[in-house]
Order: sequence, then structure tokens, then C-alpha cells
Amino acid sequence: MSYKTSNAEGHVDFINTYDLEPMAQQVIPKAAFGYIASGAEDTFTLRENIRAFNHKLIVPHTLCNVENPSTEIEFAGEKLSSPIIMAPVAAHKLANEQGEVATARGVHEFGSLYTTSSYSTVDLPEITEALQGTPHWFQFYFSKDDGINRHIMDRVKAEGYKAIVLTADATVGGNREVDKRNGFVFPVGMPIVEEYLQKVLENQWTLFTSQLNNACLHAM
Ligand SMILES: Cc1cc2nc3c(=O)[nH]c(=O)nc-3n(C[C@H](O)[C@H](O)[C@H](O)COP(=O)(O)O)c2cc1C
Repeated sequence: MSYKTSNAEGHVDFINTYDLEPMAQQVIPKAAFGYIASGAEDTFTLRENIRAFNHKLIVPHTLCNVENPSTEIEFAGEKLSSPIIMAPVAAHKLANEQGEVATARGVHEFGSLYTTSSYSTVDLPEITEALQGTPHWFQFYFSKDDGINRHIMDRVKAEGYKAIVLTADATVGGNREVDKRNGFVFPVGMPIVEEYLQKVLENQWTLFTSQLNNACLHAM
């Protein structure tokens, strides 16, 4: 299926991050925008999360040295330009043709930390290249099959990933009403998911052929 989304590139003028949402809505196809911007059920929890976050208050420091103010922190052994890091987010190609490559470049410029989603629409080596040495973690869905877990772990270790972000709340998918109304299905390929599935098929095939061999031996 061919999916057309924005290929826009360049400076974006905004004053508040809330300004970005209507701008994105103008360039991202409706169902994809719905997936990115909405949440489960009638989005009550999404609204409650925003409300709760807005009640986290900053404790002001006064009468201290402000000659060289800095948002830099050291976190998990990494020096970061600010405490804001990139959470795992699926399928960046829904928003822009460059997908995770553009996000990784942005995180590199910002000097923060990037988390690669297992649902990335770009494969690991391209993301690593775009990160140019920026610290990166990998979001991981634990499989019942240890062989698959080991295979993915080996790949991400080889790509310089320092930590695993384990997703523990996705045993069942959310009942996403906006996605149902828009008939949303992922329209872009996901190389890491495809690799998981390929491994599952290979393992099933190995199991099937060994069962077949056993059956033949017993029949002889
Ligand atoms: C569009 C979208 C895609 C997401 N994709 C993933 C994902 O692939 N893997 C994952 O573990 N979490 C995923 N998340 C969850 C985020 O990483 C994060 O935990 C969640 O949005 C809560 O943080 P927030 O309140 O800042 O949005 C996704 C969230 C959004 C909004």
C-alpha cells in the first residue's frame, strides 16, 4: 500500500510546543494523526495524564549563582543537554518520509538521549548512523522465545545500545476509539517487527521439521 505523508524539511516557527499540534495536523494524513495524537478509549486517561503533569511544579532556586545557568544533567552515566529525553515512539514515517532518521538527527543536535522503538519504520543501522554517537537505548517487547530475545539483544548490542527499555504494559492493545473511527492500520513497514516475525517463522519451521523427522523415524 502506498502511503503519502509530509516530506517537509526546514525551520518551524513556534512559540509554545502546543502550537506544533495544529501544524502537524495540517501535514499528516487524518488516521495517522489520530494514532499519534489520541489514546485509549475516549481519551479520558490521556486528558488526566496532561492534567496531572501540569500539577508537577518547579521548585525555584533563588539567591544562587546564575552566572552560567545550564540545563545539563548527568543521567545513567550520560551527560545530557537537558533532562528531556526521547521516549520510544512507534512509526515516525507516519509523520514524515524521513522517519526515525530525522528524529535521531534532531536528538543528536539537541544533545539528548534517543530511545529506539521496536516499531521503528527505519532499520537499526540507519538510526545509528543518524545518531552520530548520541547515547541510545532500545525499547523491547519480551518474547516467550528466548532465542528471539537473544537474537534481538545481540543485534542492538552490536549497534551500541546501552540499555533496554522494557515495555511491560502492552500484553493487550488498547481499545483506541479514534483509530477505530478512522479505520487506522499501520501503513508503513517496520523492519524490527518484521525481523521478530521472521525469527518466529524460522523457529516454527525448525520445530515443524524436527517433529516431522521424529515422526519419520518412528514410522521406520
Ligand atoms: C504515538 C505514540 C507512539 C508510541 N509508541 C511506543 C512504542 O513503540 N513503544 C513503547 O514502549 N511506548 C510507546 N509509546 C509510549 C511512550 O513512550 C510514553 O511512554 C507515553 O507516551 C507516556 O509518555 P507521555 O505522557 O509523555 O506521552 C508511544 C506513545 C505515543 C504517543
